[in-house]
Amino acid sequence: MKSLTDAFRTNNGIDIPCVGFGTWQAPDGQVAADAVKYAIEAGYRHIDTAAVYRNEKSVGRAIAESGIDRKELFITTKLWNTKRGYDLALQAFDRSLKELELDYVDLYLIHWPANKADGAKINADTWRAFEKLYKDGLVKAIGLSNFLAHHIEPLLDTAEIRPAVDQIEFHPGYMQIETVDFCKAHDIIVEAWSPLGTGCLLDHPQLKEIAGRYGVSVARLCIRWCLQNGTLPLPKSVTPQRIAENTQVFNFTISEADMQTINALPYIGGSGFHPDKVEF
Ligand code: A2P
Repeated sequence: MKSLTDAFRTNNGIDIPCVGFGTWQAPDGQVAADAVKYAIEAGYRHIDTAAVYRNEKSVGRAIAESGIDRKELFITTKLWNTKRGYDLALQAFDRSLKELELDYVDLYLIHWPANKADGAKINADTWRAFEKLYKDGLVKAIGLSNFLAHHIEPLLDTAEIRPAVDQIEFHPGYMQIETVDFCKAHDIIVEAWSPLGTGCLLDHPQLKEIAGRYGVSVARLCIRWCLQNGTLPLPKSVTPQRIAENTQVFNFTISEADMQTINALPYIGGSGFHPDKVEF
């Protein structure tokens, strides 16, 4: 990858710009709208939101006001957990589309797997709705978020259309190797949410030392590290200078030895959400 618009190609032939702009915890209203506006000005063409972030309206406004041709933008949103199942998922998608003021989204994701005893059936029913949206041309690609290998496996048994993406928490100290390897083996792109560990990695002494040797910030190091591990990072910021800084990840290469050192780091911090344990 050489620039923000170089792409990962999905198993259904869709190109996803290789760094996405994350909007989790970007408050609705002017803050989120401005953040997306800065991001587009800084060169991002891939914006990641979700119904539960409650900022789809602001994201949509920023997209409309950007003046960028819709076809040049890649927009992801996600189905929230209270809307699982065939009918509710279709209704929720319709609402997201209206909030975003779009007539299609590029990627629609199931935000979290249903994780109780009947989870596999619920996920399969939700997926059927996603397949309908895909066949109807309302989404260019469909995928998953926070699905571990053992959630994806049963879904593949009944899916007509394979998931294009699994978006998981992925950052130094939290690599979820089993799920990443499973996705790679099944041609599912791994997107990395919270590549900076929701910010808790930024003061880590060893990451600082490595970043210092390349003359970059820990944030840039972590984003580059995701790319070199074959995952698609989605850094979030509402700060213009950081939004721009996080795009500067194509003018240095982390050595193989440093990649191995970072890959071997123990858990440092992160969201603390585990897909089998979360109650939301
Ligand atoms: P803010 O949004 O206030 O700029 P993650 O993407 O892993 O969830 O991390 C997001 C957190 O990291 C946010 O608190 C964000 O702060 C902060 N952040 C994002 N980019 C940078 C950066 N380049 N330098 C320092 N902090 C950053």
